[in-house]
Amino acid sequence: MTLVFQTLLLSSGGCGEGTTFLSRKRCGQALTGNNGTLKSPNYPYNYPNNARCVWTITTDPDTRVMLTFSYFQLEYGYDCAYDFLVIRDGSDPTSNVLQRLCGSSTPETIVSTGNVMFIEFQTNYRRIYKGFQAQWYSREVCGSALSGNNGTFQSPNYPNNYPNNVYCEWTIRTDVGTKVQLTFSAFELHNSYYCSSSIDSVTIRDGSNSTAGLIGRLCGSGYSDSIVTSGNSLYILFTSDNSFSLSGFQGQWSINQGRKLSQTNYKHNTLLLEVQGTIRNCFIIENNYHNLTFSFDLTRM
Ligand SMILES: *[C@@H]1O[C@H](CO)[C@@H](O)[C@H](O)[C@H]1NC(C)=O
Ligand SMILES: *[C@@H]1O[C@H](CO)[C@@H](O)[C@H](O)[C@H]1NC(C)=O
Ligand SMILES: *[C@@H]1O[C@H](CO)[C@@H](O)[C@H](O)[C@H]1NC(C)=O
Ligand SMILES: *[C@@H]1O[C@H](CO)[C@@H](O)[C@H](O)[C@H]1NC(C)=O
Repeated sequence: MTLVFQTLLLSSGGCGEGTTFLSRKRCGQALTGNNGTLKSPNYPYNYPNNARCVWTITTDPDTRVMLTFSYFQLEYGYDCAYDFLVIRDGSDPTSNVLQRLCGSSTPETIVSTGNVMFIEFQTNYRRIYKGFQAQWYSREVCGSALSGNNGTFQSPNYPNNYPNNVYCEWTIRTDVGTKVQLTFSAFELHNSYYCSSSIDSVTIRDGSNSTAGLIGRLCGSGYSDSIVTSGNSLYILFTSDNSFSLSGFQGQWSINQGRKLSQTNYKHNTLLLEVQGTIRNCFIIENNYHNLTFSFDLTRM
């Protein structure tokens, strides 16, 4: 163990008698490759007080770093002022903050814009928890920005199998005042019990970027009904993991002609098998491992 001393509350005379020191455990490392795991010190036991860990993750050029948490519990504080994890979009402590995290809700998947992510975990002098465990992956970038009255887009290599480990983003923008209507003419992804953005899935958002409201997340096959946005833009994310690729999808978009879908939300954890088996037009709009929120077209039932 290396101890790094940082001075805190340094009394005026410098390093003399009465100076208070805070000793910090140093941890973390520089990571490279395709994927790996990141844990707080001592995980699954409690992390120490006064720790400061710094990791940098560097993947191949033209890829992004994707970070997915499987466990997260830190001390909660307003503004995450006590124990915290900061994820930055770049290689050093001055890069843009993607997320500053604390408390106990498991964060959404975090993705860098370039091929380097800087992660800093810091704990204060009291209260310790189990910490976190996360997996990181390299993802190849694809997708494009689309505009006009209508068009199509498809998974890479369509109708041949899509590649593994991709992260494709499309944004569609129609004229101001119109709405975007999206229909999949084909949809074949590897099916999975938990439909999340760290596996093969299509995430659709009601706006122009990844922070816009979630319309749905699709895994498996056979989605044929239209999706209509509330404004004139639509964001689509396609991710694939490192196994089981199928033919993928083809999407067609146009300016909406006024059709309104009747959709409703259901919160019930026993619907899953039924959904995978019989309700084809179903979107998993929230998935926190135990509770799934579905949205589906009632007229189809
Ligand atoms: C992680 O990387 C190794 C080495 O490149 C590879 O064999 C493995 O399939 C990867 N696993 C995942 C989950 O991507
Ligand atoms: C798609 O847009 C083009 C160019 O604006 C137009 O000529 C064509 O009729 C449109 N097709 C459909 C099916 O709306
Ligand atoms: C993302 O989209 C929202 C609206 O959906 C908008 O308010 C916000 O400015 C956008 N952010 C960026 C970075 O473009
Ligand atoms: C799932 O929902 C139930 C009922 O709303 C709630 O009591 C429970 O805490 C939830 N579990 C998780 C993991 O969110």
